[in-house]
Amino acid sequence: MKRYLITGCAGFIGSNFVHYMLKKYDDILLVNLDKLTYAGNLENLKSVENDKRHIFVQGDICDEKLVRELFLKYDFDYVINFAAESHVDRSIKNPEIFVESNVLGTVNLLQRAKDAWYDDKAKTWKEGKKYLQVSTDEVYGALGPEGYFTETTPLSPHSPYSSSKASADLFVKAFHDTYGMPINITRCSNNYGPYQFPEKLIPLMINNVKHHKQLPVYGDGMQIRDWLYVEDHCKAIDMVCSNGKIGEVYNVGGHNERPNIFIVKTIISQLHDRLNDEEISEALIKHVEDRLGHDRRYGIDPEKIKNDLGWYPETPFEKGIVLTIDWYLENEEWMNNVTSGNYQKYYDEMYKAKV
Ligand SMILES: NC(=O)c1ccc[n+]([C@@H]2O[C@H](COP(=O)([O-])OP(=O)(O)OC[C@H]3O[C@@H](n4cnc5c(N)ncnc54)[C@H](O)[C@@H]3O)[C@@H](O)[C@H]2O)c1
Repeated sequence: MKRYLITGCAGFIGSNFVHYMLKKYDDILLVNLDKLTYAGNLENLKSVENDKRHIFVQGDICDEKLVRELFLKYDFDYVINFAAESHVDRSIKNPEIFVESNVLGTVNLLQRAKDAWYDDKAKTWKEGKKYLQVSTDEVYGALGPEGYFTETTPLSPHSPYSSSKASADLFVKAFHDTYGMPINITRCSNNYGPYQFPEKLIPLMINNVKHHKQLPVYGDGMQIRDWLYVEDHCKAIDMVCSNGKIGEVYNVGGHNERPNIFIVKTIISQLHDRLNDEEISEALIKHVEDRLGHDRRYGIDPEKIKNDLGWYPETPFEKGIVLTIDWYLENEEWMNNVTSGNYQKYYDEMYKAKV
């Protein structure tokens, strides 16, 4: 049975990863370490609450003692680090917490994995172990109208968020280069799908449109992002963890480049038709002052992961956006709990019940 330490999996991508892995594998143990910041929501994991293959631990990836104890207790084969402060706007307001969680937290996980997996006397690593860092295409900076990010594109992050992720990536690489640690790094484009916190573009717009609220669009809305359905990202992480060549970086993206304004207009038109609501129109769009240092275009070249591991995105944007809108419409209670802050009460109850 493979044993995974997965971190930050009460958040958006991590909780989707838990569902993906439990559906795919019977013989598996996922120990999910999450601090439950504002972005962590145990309601995302409600359907697996009683599944013995998933153990939730509330805690900080920066906590040296706790992470050491988890390694001793579970003898992990893999660490997959999703945990991070992930919102660019928050990083512009308060960069320090991004350094703590994203950089220092990563270094703590690397150190504890090395303590557990490296035999100092024999100078060898235990067989079959791997540390996988879930990173982002934002570490590459911005593109002009042409070209794509490849794995050899130099790192050139612009925001405090992407700088903290690039810094973490460099520490992961350093552990490989210096100590020979078995690692992979995945760098993915923008994800969308179920369980995304509604401060991010797609769930925010769905929620606002539904309630006829204004739709704030940064600047001209022509910032281009390469959108990937979250389940396709989960599939890529699983493939890299199982079969990725040690030491390699893999870019993950689906050639689904769309300007933000296109995304917003798609959501308006979908909800207008689906809810048969004449008050839903493009008049709700309000252009607001652009984000500081807003990157114009990201675009991933996913050839390497396709050629080396056979990964490809299964969900075209036209299908993924419909699935996503369906999910948010069907899970109104989830959305209401998040926007009202009630989800925090839920995890207080859940956590208290478990200690
Ligand atoms: N969302 C995207 O489009 C996207 C794209 C590429 C890469 N990524 C990366 O994927 C990862 C997951 O992103 P997400 O969108 O799911 O983020 P998220 O903000 O939804 O979730 C982050 C989770 O990490 C937890 N966390 C934060 N700090 C922690 C700490 N110090 N210790 C333990 N847990 C902590 C939070 O409680 C939360 O559950 C991040 O590393 C992010 O950089 C995200």
